[in-house]
Amino acid sequence: MAQINDNFTKIPATYLFSEIAKRVAQHKAQNPQAVIIRMGIGDVSLPLPDAAVDAMIAAAEEQRHAETFRGYGPEQGYDFLRNAIVENDFRAKGLNIHADEIFVSDGAKSDTGNIGDIFSIHNKVAVTDPVYPVYVDTNAMGGRAGEPSAQNVWSNLIYLPCNAENNFVPALPAEKADLIYLCFPNNPTGTTLTKAQLKVWVDYARENNSVILFDAAYEAFITEENVPHSIYEIEGAYDVAIEFRSFSKTAGFTGTRCGYTVVPKSLTALSESGEKVQLNKLWNRRQSTKFNGTSYVVQRAAEAIYSPEGKKQVRTLIDYYMENVRLIRESLQKAGFSTFGGVNAPYVWVKTPAGMSSWDYFDFLLKEKNIVCTPGAGFGTNGEGYVRFSAFGSRENTIAAMKRIAE
Ligand code: MLT
Repeated sequence: MAQINDNFTKIPATYLFSEIAKRVAQHKAQNPQAVIIRMGIGDVSLPLPDAAVDAMIAAAEEQRHAETFRGYGPEQGYDFLRNAIVENDFRAKGLNIHADEIFVSDGAKSDTGNIGDIFSIHNKVAVTDPVYPVYVDTNAMGGRAGEPSAQNVWSNLIYLPCNAENNFVPALPAEKADLIYLCFPNNPTGTTLTKAQLKVWVDYARENNSVILFDAAYEAFITEENVPHSIYEIEGAYDVAIEFRSFSKTAGFTGTRCGYTVVPKSLTALSESGEKVQLNKLWNRRQSTKFNGTSYVVQRAAEAIYSPEGKKQVRTLIDYYMENVRLIRESLQKAGFSTFGGVNAPYVWVKTPAGMSSWDYFDFLLKEKNIVCTPGAGFGTNGEGYVRFSAFGSRENTIAAMKRIAE
């Protein structure tokens, strides 16, 4: 009889956003007239920029003709996109990243979930709490998280609390961490680290031979000067960090799927026999074995967002969502809520009223106001007593939701 990977029996039966979708679908089935405003999962509402769509149409046309048709592409991504990424996201900002350190993928969710393949299951993993659930669930699937408690606290993970008391800045762990997941601007809290605060982690990683897995999916939403867009802005980071980027929120690619991961060649970790091994080589081997590359058409769309028109159109999208986030933040504050984040990120992290639990307040908003948020407890124990509002909806719905809450 075949046997399953038993780690799957230990994780929650449904992924957080699937559970929310299920509850919303139930509510809709029971209240077909309800006009539900979705501020839960960070899914964008504005269409793709014209530059990206035009590039996809042109690329699709190429696929129609034998002379221009392309079959399998390089698993790491086409040079045209890798070079555009290097020039625009790194070199233009004085960062020394090379095209062969960029791995184009179908998004940061897959990459942050898959990266565990190249690391030993004996690594000690640190995650912030609250945290994007993909990091925890995939480490649990891989057998690196230990056993869960009834509250889903894993015995072998190091949790780094981020809450109002520490201003959402994680403190260094007492116990040595080998792999450290950091996501800044943060999902779910929408808060950030300054360069000096991130440097503390880079220094820690250098001193302890740790690897930082830095999720920068929300960097395009940064508005403040002193907040790093890339971990490589911090001295010494090339040797200790992998960075994940996404076009999902930046350019509306949540359904189109494209992102990339940066694995510098100077980054190494130890084999069982104590030999230093380049992680770039391992990730390349992993990707070329398990992944056949992002589709050509989609990579052309991603390339187009680096064109002058593409850049302008992407800026318009980001500005739109940042105006939404301002509206959410200010309306909730005016209504008496304590809010966090939402200045350099499209998420506002909100203390629930009257000490309600996250799920109770989620249910209240859904049933009484027809508004979907994300319960903070779904992101970890330090998320209890908070909910997250996403600013990726339409302006009209954002205003309507804030009005409903104020009433
Ligand atoms: C979120 O809402 O946290 C994100 O949309 C999830 C994701 O990017 O996978």
